[in-house]
Amino acid sequence: MNILKNKKILLGITGGIAAYKCPELIRLLTQQGAIVRTVLTACAKNFVTIPTLQTLSNQPVYESVWDGMDSMAHIELSRWADIVLIAPTTANFIALLSHGFANDLLSTLCLATTSPIVIAPSMNQQMYLNNLTQSNLIKLKNNRFLIWGPGDGIQACGETGPGRMLEPEELLENIHQFFAPKIMQNKNIVITAGPTQEPLDPVRYLSNYSSGKMGYALAEAAFTAGANVTLISGPTDLTISNEIKKVEVLTAEEMHRAVFNHLDDCDIFISAAAVCDYKTDNVATSKIKKTDKTITITLTQNPDILKEAANYYPKIIRIGFAAETHNLLENAYKKLEDKNCHMIIANEVGKDKGFHSNDNQVSVITRNNNVHLKKAAKTEIAIQLIRLIHETFLREHSLAKC
Ligand code: C5P
Repeated sequence: MNILKNKKILLGITGGIAAYKCPELIRLLTQQGAIVRTVLTACAKNFVTIPTLQTLSNQPVYESVWDGMDSMAHIELSRWADIVLIAPTTANFIALLSHGFANDLLSTLCLATTSPIVIAPSMNQQMYLNNLTQSNLIKLKNNRFLIWGPGDGIQACGETGPGRMLEPEELLENIHQFFAPKIMQNKNIVITAGPTQEPLDPVRYLSNYSSGKMGYALAEAAFTAGANVTLISGPTDLTISNEIKKVEVLTAEEMHRAVFNHLDDCDIFISAAAVCDYKTDNVATSKIKKTDKTITITLTQNPDILKEAANYYPKIIRIGFAAETHNLLENAYKKLEDKNCHMIIANEVGKDKGFHSNDNQVSVITRNNNVHLKKAAKTEIAIQLIRLIHETFLREHSLAKC
């Protein structure tokens, strides 16, 4: 089933250079069966032409409150749309919206509509970072606007920083997720992500190469699927949606404590963190100096968070990860038993896969099934995993009722 089939998308285009990407966005949306009507601000017409938008959408393009048969285009369109997506949204338009102005068709219909409104900010990085723009964005967020992006990188003006409109493919993916059924509604999901750091002395630690990308992608996918998500994260440089509760930890012991503080009303626990198995016995209080050719550091085992969760919270659906360099499936099946969990997501660690990469390739192992997900972006893999985890949740709960 195509989720976007016959979905009515009102695309608002404001006057930013990223408007040149809108024809491509319309093409992607209409290819999926969506009906796209476009509203342009006066300035947007400097960047993109009406015939192009009309041809690609095969729908009328609007530019004034006086468009439409009964001169009520703003009301007609505000009722028609399943979603209003304003891409690109300039700093000026963000300011207009946050103050409730209605001085053209797009701003007027935004006041009139009861449909969700999404903005995809697009502007020079200083304009984006300006306190006024930031406080306008907060105001919009607190008034039910959804904000997608911006991306970070090289800008049309030659500067580098935050303010790039999300790419059409990314906007399409977000719209997909927006309309996808909320299969995890009312579920409380706890997810761990990233590495842990085990201090050796005040300036050194033991850790691993985990970037946290898989766990963060799972947190976003679970949230989009309707779950209440708590993300317990080791040190990473990643950010997460404001609506997701994030608890930051450093060591395995801190992660252990944070997880167990959140398991009482948890339905699903996803242990995606690369928790260090060992920590130093005694953390040196001053820097370890270079003296002998070799030194010995004694390590002791950290608590196994996932395994303990199975002992203390057997009713929670528990999902583990296995990052392996060899004997992937054999090790994964062993882990399924050892850690007594419902699913192990086994990923090969290697070139372009696993730790730091944006892509992953995983085998999903349960007691009665083994599904291979082919190589894809971690954000895409995360969506597929949340579906499979939901199926496992339903199966386990129906078994429990038997
Ligand atoms: O024990 P191992 O690291 O091989 O297994 C990986 C899985 O176990 C991952 O899901 C990881 O989050 C979890 N784990 C844990 N506590 C540890 C080590 C790993 O929960 N101390």
